[in-house]
Amino acid sequence: MDKHTATSKMRTVKLTSVTLETPTVKSFTFNDKLCSKAKPGQFIMIWIPRIDEIPMSLSTLDPKRSRAAVTVEKIGEATSALHKMKTGDTIGVRGPFGNGYTLENAGKIMIVGGGTGLASLMPLTEKLAKGKTEITFLMGAKTKSNILFYTRVRKLLTRVKGQLVVTTEDGTFGQKGMVTTRAEELLKQGEQFDMIYACGPEKMMQKMFLLTERFHVPFEASLERFMRCAIGICGTCVIGRYRVCKDGPVFSSRQLREAKNEFGHWRRGFDGRKTTV
Ligand SMILES: Cc1cc2nc3c(=O)[nH]c(=O)nc-3n(C[C@H](O)[C@H](O)[C@H](O)COP(=O)(O)OP(=O)(O)OC[C@H]3O[C@@H](n4cnc5c(N)ncnc54)[C@H](O)[C@@H]3O)c2cc1C
Ligand code: FES
Repeated sequence: MDKHTATSKMRTVKLTSVTLETPTVKSFTFNDKLCSKAKPGQFIMIWIPRIDEIPMSLSTLDPKRSRAAVTVEKIGEATSALHKMKTGDTIGVRGPFGNGYTLENAGKIMIVGGGTGLASLMPLTEKLAKGKTEITFLMGAKTKSNILFYTRVRKLLTRVKGQLVVTTEDGTFGQKGMVTTRAEELLKQGEQFDMIYACGPEKMMQKMFLLTERFHVPFEASLERFMRCAIGICGTCVIGRYRVCKDGPVFSSRQLREAKNEFGHWRRGFDGRKTTV
């Protein structure tokens, strides 16, 4: 079987651990060689038996142990069913799909994450922390109990020159306010960055995109759209002339400039109708 066929074929795997990360977010670990070898920023399709198949970023990549994980917020039918599953239960996986982030081996990097957007940024940070990068990590959450991967990021940043800044909207932890406000302050102070990566709520990523345009910093953001096939056929996930599943999910400044009338404004539902982001 060629590599492409093997990747898009569904494999059934057993959950080897389920970890409660925040009151509404759990990580699900399983063994799958192809998933464990994914590039940071790639995603998979998870089949929850009798319910649905949904896209999820890979939050752990451990090729030595053929291990991978996804980190899932409980929001609707499929994610609620997944949250009820236990170690030893079976799910289906297809993938990895998509392009992944461009990896910078050196230079000053800013990483901006919010909510479960932090999931795809974890393997990226792990890879960057092995190089000669300096990392400013900005992590945003609504409130203290929603903060995701705080300890994991702190530990990673001990390997490189870097800083972690946490913002909460209600001020219960770190600095009060939005993560984008802190990013703007750093850029206004004249801090230079070679690349800024973002993943999180689309309005946050749009704000970061506009900031990076203003301050002329290369930018990559990982986008979400409804997905069915994940292999570029059905057209459910289009943004501008791109398909998020195949051309993304990670988009560059140039591509976001092209899609700026849609990015941060609207997406299509499964029925093809436009809904606001
Ligand atoms: C490439 C990619 C990577 C993703 N990575 C993660 C991740 O790491 N962790 C995580 O928790 N979630 C992630 N998601 C989002 C996840 O796929 C959806 O939350 C999930 O499909 C919802 O399924 P559900 O049946 O529980 O909710 P549904 O019952 O389908 O929907 C509940 C609500 O969520 C909205 N919604 C559903 N799917 C999406 C979607 N794809 N994008 C935006 N809104 C949606 C619906 O409009 C509805 O309001 C990712 C999505 C994509 C496209
Ligand atoms: S999900 Fe079918 S084209 Fe992207």
